Amino acid sequence: MNSKQMAAMPVNEKLLELISPQGLKFKRDVVETGEKLSRIYYLSSYPEQPAIGWIASLASIQDTVISIFINPVDPQQFLDGLKKGTNSDMNIINTTRDEVERIRAEARYRSSIQIIQDIENNNNMYVYVSCLVQVSGNDKEQLEENCKYFKNRVSGLGFRARPCSFVMDKAYRQVAPFGMYDKEIFNISKQNMQIGTLMAGQPFSGSGFIDKTGYFLGSDETGRMITLDPFKKEGDRTNSNFAIVGQSGGGKSYAVKKLLLNEYISGTKIGIIDPENEYKDMCLKIEGSKWIDCSGGIGENVGRINPLQVYNLAKVDKSDDEDDESNIKSPLALHFQNLGTFFSLYFKDQLEVRISAILNEVLEELYKNFGIVWETDTSKLENEDFPIMKDLYDLLLSKIEKEKVEKKKHDYEDLASIIRELAVGADAPIFNGHTSIKADSRFMVLDTSNMAESKENVKACQYYNMLRFLQNAAFEDRDERFMVVADEAYLLLDPKVPQGTEFLRNFSKRARKYNCSLVVITQSIIDFLAESIKQYGQALFDNSTYKMFFGMDGKNLQQAKDLWELTMEETNLLSNKVRGQCLLFVGSSRMLCRIKGMYWENPYLTGGGR
Ligand SMILES: Nc1ncnc2c1ncn2[C@@H]1O[C@H](COP(=O)(O)OP(=O)(O)OP(=O)(O)O)[C@@H](O)[C@H]1O
Ligand SMILES: [Mg+2]
Repeated sequence: MNSKQMAAMPVNEKLLELISPQGLKFKRDVVETGEKLSRIYYLSSYPEQPAIGWIASLASIQDTVISIFINPVDPQQFLDGLKKGTNSDMNIINTTRDEVERIRAEARYRSSIQIIQDIENNNNMYVYVSCLVQVSGNDKEQLEENCKYFKNRVSGLGFRARPCSFVMDKAYRQVAPFGMYDKEIFNISKQNMQIGTLMAGQPFSGSGFIDKTGYFLGSDETGRMITLDPFKKEGDRTNSNFAIVGQSGGGKSYAVKKLLLNEYISGTKIGIIDPENEYKDMCLKIEGSKWIDCSGGIGENVGRINPLQVYNLAKVDKSDDEDDESNIKSPLALHFQNLGTFFSLYFKDQLEVRISAILNEVLEELYKNFGIVWETDTSKLENEDFPIMKDLYDLLLSKIEKEKVEKKKHDYEDLASIIRELAVGADAPIFNGHTSIKADSRFMVLDTSNMAESKENVKACQYYNMLRFLQNAAFEDRDERFMVVADEAYLLLDPKVPQGTEFLRNFSKRARKYNCSLVVITQSIIDFLAESIKQYGQALFDNSTYKMFFGMDGKNLQQAKDLWELTMEETNLLSNKVRGQCLLFVGSSRMLCRIKGMYWENPYLTGGGR
């Protein structure tokens, strides 16, 4: 059709009305289209090597529309321009006294040289790219929230975005569906780019999330594959810890079993605390595994962990962490600190400071009677060389008998009456006796489901006891990969005894140095955020490179939303509560993940859950 014919063509008013936005208004930073508000950004700086699928990543951000215009460059003109640029940058580098200016000039110089080499030697083609992104919201608040999220995501991907302030009308014409090229906007926003980088950014080039050394975990929202290697350390992936939260039945244990199975196959040693009998079926299917009932009593699979056994100090180079407590304390001194936590969890408010001090004195005497003093190298001792609760109780009884001073006698009596429970009373089957288990299996489950009826304090104590056992096993060899799973971790979180949560936080902090991954699973975030334990509970989450949020609602959802600045899209994902679907954090990257068991994995993953 030539221009004359075009001029004669009547305007289709109906169509025009249909595609014309209602009530269009432009402000400095905002475009109003009817009820909707939006802001248009242009990408002002690109990373040196944008990730594969970068356009798709930008386009998949909720409430955004992306528009890309490409103009070819005249290679000779482009090269001439670059050469001029490098000359002037070299001048600046040689003459400027302004450090910041020099650093900027050096960066520009490096990048220009790279492009010149690319064109001259590799015949790579360059184009000018203008990339605009329109972020929308239903009201001002939502717009600001979406813009904030967009900017975070963009900077996470290594880009920088600037609003098209004062030229929103022109930017709108370029970004809107009718896509009209605007020279001024193009010139403001254009960046040169290798054509390969542009192509690699397309949605079809996307690759989900791929760790080449990892295993298949599931798929993202577009069905692309997610493979993960939790022991990979890179960028903001500084440790291998997981924090996993979600309502009952959401698929937390299923996901963890999948991780465990794949880790086990890759040679990682596994230790699990299982208060709900969820891992027994899996464990029994794995060759050479050990399933241990830690609920007390006697029987074939029953095992005991002696709370009074002193663990060897896991060796860490001093240079690694100057204030790591294990470097400064002797094994016995560190053990006393741990015993303090154990007894606090057990006795809660009953143990006044004065009685607690007397208990420490008696314990010191007890260990001395067994030939264990501050300097003793406990790594040489056998399980039977340590005292047990009954020994502590007997020592107290003999002290009562010998003590002449009435007041002290009373103190010993008080103490004996509370230790009695652990030594010969109701809880003795769990806590009294030498450690009877060994961490000599590559897949080990410590089960306490038979303690379901026990009191909260007893459950918390045994949880702590098992966690210490597994920590010691995991830290024994700092080169060996070890994954420790703390399922139903709320059992340890007593707001009255913050030391329990502190221990978990310290474990997670130290795990990295021992090639250990701590997986903490719980139904409720709120449990970790009670005022007295919040400083440890929240750090535990923040310190976990990998976070998995399964379905949740109410206060939990609100907390997650506030703490991790979840978008509406992410919040909806959680409130929909689809079984097996989670919001996965890998460092600062976030994605939807549908956990998928493969046919050969399923027999290990199902069963034992609810
Ligand atoms: N991705 C999945 N694919 C198939 N089945 C799944 C998936 N996730 C979970 N299930 C099944 O759903 C049930 C509940 O899952 P799971 O036991 O993992 O829940 P949970 O979050 O650990 O709950 P709880 O907090 O009560 O322990 C199980 O029978 C499990 O096999
Ligand atoms: Mg579970």
